[in-house]
Amino acid sequence: MAVVGIDLGNLASKIGVARRRGIDVIANEVSNLATPSLVSFTPRQRLIGESAKTAETSNFKNTIGSLKRLIGRTLNDPEIQEIEKKYINAELVDVNGTVGIRVKYLGETSEFSATQLVAMYLAKLRDTAAAELNQNVSDVVIAIPGWFTDVQRRALLDAAQIAGLNALRLINDHTAVALGYGITKSDLPETPENARNVIFVDIGHSDYSVAVVAFSKGQLVTKASAYDRHFGGRNFDYALVEHFAHEFKTKYKIDVMNNPKAIFRLTTGCERLKKVLSANAEAPLNVESIMNDVDAASSLKREQFEEMMSSLLDRITVPLDAALKDSGLTIDQIDSVELVGGCTRMPSVKERIQKWYGGKTLSFTLNQDEAICRGATFACASLSPVFRVREFNIYDMTAYPVRVTWSQEAGNPDEDTELVVFPKGNAIPSTKILTFHRAGPFDLEASYTEDANIPKGINSWIGKVAIKGVQKPASGDFATVKVKARMNLHGILNFEEAYTVEEVEEDETYTVGEGEEKKEETRKVKKIRRKDSLKLVTGFTGLTEETRNTYQEKEGTMFADDKLVMETEDRKNALEEYVYDIRSKLDGRYAPFVQASEKEAILSATQAAEDWLYSEEGEDATKSAYVSKLDELKKLGDPVAFRWRESEDRARAASALREVIDNFMSLAQSEDEKYSHIEQADRTKVIELCATNKQWLDDNLYRQMEKAKNVNPVITTAEIYKRRDDVQFTSAAIMNKPKPKPKTEVPPPTTEAPKQEKTDVEMEGEEQEPKITEMDVD
Ligand SMILES: Nc1ncnc2c1ncn2[C@@H]1O[C@H](COP(=O)(O)OP(=O)(O)OP(=O)(O)O)[C@@H](O)[C@H]1O
Ligand SMILES: [Mg+2]
Repeated sequence: MAVVGIDLGNLASKIGVARRRGIDVIANEVSNLATPSLVSFTPRQRLIGESAKTAETSNFKNTIGSLKRLIGRTLNDPEIQEIEKKYINAELVDVNGTVGIRVKYLGETSEFSATQLVAMYLAKLRDTAAAELNQNVSDVVIAIPGWFTDVQRRALLDAAQIAGLNALRLINDHTAVALGYGITKSDLPETPENARNVIFVDIGHSDYSVAVVAFSKGQLVTKASAYDRHFGGRNFDYALVEHFAHEFKTKYKIDVMNNPKAIFRLTTGCERLKKVLSANAEAPLNVESIMNDVDAASSLKREQFEEMMSSLLDRITVPLDAALKDSGLTIDQIDSVELVGGCTRMPSVKERIQKWYGGKTLSFTLNQDEAICRGATFACASLSPVFRVREFNIYDMTAYPVRVTWSQEAGNPDEDTELVVFPKGNAIPSTKILTFHRAGPFDLEASYTEDANIPKGINSWIGKVAIKGVQKPASGDFATVKVKARMNLHGILNFEEAYTVEEVEEDETYTVGEGEEKKEETRKVKKIRRKDSLKLVTGFTGLTEETRNTYQEKEGTMFADDKLVMETEDRKNALEEYVYDIRSKLDGRYAPFVQASEKEAILSATQAAEDWLYSEEGEDATKSAYVSKLDELKKLGDPVAFRWRESEDRARAASALREVIDNFMSLAQSEDEKYSHIEQADRTKVIELCATNKQWLDDNLYRQMEKAKNVNPVITTAEIYKRRDDVQFTSAAIMNKPKPKPKTEVPPPTTEAPKQEKTDVEMEGEEQEPKITEMDVD
């Protein structure tokens, strides 16, 4: 069973796998440690990750990124319309009440929901991990922003399920980072009272999060978290784009901002420039053929850049202040500030954070790019039965308060109608039992509170539950109903069960008096006992099972189609390659092995195949068409190739047979004591077998020498190896016969128990793999 952790990044994602010696962040098919978070649709297939990135420039309207920004959102969400749209080139549409895209795929207009897009992408990451591990991947832990709401988390779980993944946990990005930090530290304080308080700052491409975490031996407690959901590298890139677009308006008389392709090209250039400025005082910008055949060029100094970004940079302290305040700690109580995420490489970003931290040195203990991924993989390892990892408790918390509301029970005017069940900062996972006094069935609704500060466009409604079968009890007006609400490991709310309870009187024995006086007495006590289980009908966001199954089927079909396209391409290439390969070999190494008529037939067949390949039909044919064309050519070419290969290998095969013959010939005639028990008749058998085969080999090799090279050989290497094996097998069976044991006297019996015989022979064959393996964490 594979153990995999995924850092789902906005720009690129990383995959971690757990191995016995520790965690590795793995490389993808082009050896990159980060896979672009992109899906591209073409007339032939879907391209995902690296191939989508390659296709992006020429196919940018049908290529979609920002996957994690879209999932769980609706089309008319102001954050989608006002912010995300700026970074997206594909057309956004509504798909079943959620945001999706409209693209050209396989020559048709198709729509996909964001959940489906994330599923496609996760399936690609799954295959990358499976290829690396050489086994199927199912269990994963996926890291997500801590500010994700219930609807986003559910959508992500749906996506994982569509991709055939079993998400053991959705872990908050900062919690993954904290776990990766804590688990590798051997010097954490012994008790929570003297915990080490660390602030983790992650600034990525789109997202900025701060978490205050208290570490002590074997545990981490998230004390507070705060976010700027729209702050990351892309904000700097976009500001640069606007700056240069403005410059180019006068410089080149072009309007970049009204040309999506030009914006796209300029963004790529600006991102590069931004990175160069992190290490240099000045950086050039060159965008070839930005639009209207203009090659745009400019440059920027770091000071200018920082000046330009000052209002953006001013936002850096906001989440830091908020998280610190929520944690109830003062800045002096913070032992270190750890930075991760690509954007924290910017000197100006580091400066601002350092200034906030009173000028103290910032820490970069963790790998900036891999920290989230490593933490998620550790989390997966600790949830999976495959590995035994060092015990480390994670006390995470909810980012938003959740309340439950209901309508008042008639006849109970004092009843409240709402309750904040999971306040901000409540631990995850967590279960709460709610008690109601009811005369009949009733409904509950769960939502985020008005002041929860969830993203504007996301509905605060989480879900509802109808509690069925509640009846007025025989005694009293109301039944006492308990409802179990659980915030699970993913940070998702569920109503898990409901039941009635009743008060019963029970006898309780207790002791009175002391010493001699001591005696037992009974008394009546009232106890609450569980009575009937009640039926729940729940309604939450997320896909219905039916839709999820449909999406899963669609994903399966698209996956199979892509695979077929790839295999077809592969067979086409194989055919093309064969045409050129055999032609050149006919004039090279195959020349002595081919007859003139054969050569003519092969050349004309390869010519026909080549013409067909470049015809309209051959350009875009089926996999089976390429396969059968190749088979036809091989039928002609294989005999020639066979003759050449045989002539290359014959001598090696012959000497392998000779070696076995010589060996047994000499053993059969050996006077060594070891073989003294082998009967003469048996020895003769071996000698005869060796002699016959030697004769056969010599005769045939001689006949072969007489033969022309361009006809089929009289003797094949396969035959030679078969005879070698026969001689080996038959002769070894005779010569390795064990020597009869000399008769020994039976020792007199002793009173000692016989000792268990100890062998130091290793057993061959299947090795029992330990089910649970220890994993290094350092
Ligand atoms: N040396 C550098 N200087 C400045 N910015 C950099 C540097 N290296 C990377 N970046 C920026 O960091 C961002 C990518 O960071 P990261 O990989 O952490 O993002 P992500 O995880 O894909 O996004 P998110 O966390 O928002 O989902 C990009 O905007 C990139 O340009
Ligand atoms: Mg990130």
